[in-house]
Amino acid sequence: MPGLKDIDKIKAQALAAIASASTQDDLNNISIKYLGRKGVITSILKSLKDLPIEQRKSVGAAANKIKVEIDQEIKSALNKFKISRVKAGIDPTLPGIARRLGAIHPITQVIDDMCRSFHGMGFAIERGPEVETDYYNFEALNFPPDHPARDMQDTFYVEGNDLVLRTHTTPVQARVLEKCKLPVKVITPGKTYRNEEISTRSYCVFHQVDGFLVDEGVTMADLKGVLVAFCRDFFGEGMSLRFRPSYFPFTEPSVEVDISCFLCRGKGCQLCKYSGWLEILGAGMIDPNVLKMADIDSEKYTGYAFGIGVERIAMLKYGINDIRLFYENDIRFIRQFI
Ligand code: DAH
Repeated sequence: MPGLKDIDKIKAQALAAIASASTQDDLNNISIKYLGRKGVITSILKSLKDLPIEQRKSVGAAANKIKVEIDQEIKSALNKFKISRVKAGIDPTLPGIARRLGAIHPITQVIDDMCRSFHGMGFAIERGPEVETDYYNFEALNFPPDHPARDMQDTFYVEGNDLVLRTHTTPVQARVLEKCKLPVKVITPGKTYRNEEISTRSYCVFHQVDGFLVDEGVTMADLKGVLVAFCRDFFGEGMSLRFRPSYFPFTEPSVEVDISCFLCRGKGCQLCKYSGWLEILGAGMIDPNVLKMADIDSEKYTGYAFGIGVERIAMLKYGINDIRLFYENDIRFIRQFI
């Protein structure tokens, strides 16, 4: 049975161990060794009942006293560790610094959604150059030189008149048709440029996704089917589409397509300017001239094509009233799309 002398010894050992501890773990282990459930001092206290009554009081009091002392000593040693780490510039008690992860730009997100949707309908994805030849941007799309339709698109010219920043992604259609095996079903997402006055509705750079299918027996009904399926997927169920006659040099007949206003459900509101309809894209049957220029037999093959403005449908879907927000990188705007 331990006597008072042993208790003094235990205390001396414990204090020496505390003094030479070099990590927090060392101190925790010392605490377990002396004060833990099966620790040295705990065992002494537990075995007091076996001592003769006259020793029980003095040994008990001494053991309790060193228990408190060792506990305090450990706590103050732990505290010193903390202080020295704070001095070294490390405060382990501070909350961690969460790193903000980057996120996908809303326009890229919308393009990804569109690609997923059309890919699910069997469209392959092709991209072409942003600096384009006059031939593919205009001529191969049935805009003859000096044709007034060229004025529909305010073009940025590069190095004279033969190169342009593409004004639409339709030139990729001309490039694909020239070298593909038929049938072909492709979408062409990408950046486009126009020398337009910058405003809430137009910017010098924007994005389009064109799509087309060329095969035997393709009709306007196929075009309608694919556009309705896409709009339901992108904007949600319950939308109707309206086809209005229009003009593009590379399609005949050409249409502009409106979607029933999803804000007012066609009743009329500020977004749809009280018409109940929102214009979302241009489309049509590929002009036989375009097929001929790509060496495709336009008697045997027909095709549809459509072109969608990405910013336009993103603005409609998310209720964004200024196209410039996509390009100003204001984190308060961008963060809403994480
Ligand atoms: N390229 C046209 C534009 O930028 C949009 C367009 C209309 C594309 C009809 C097409 C189409 O492929 O068939 O305004």
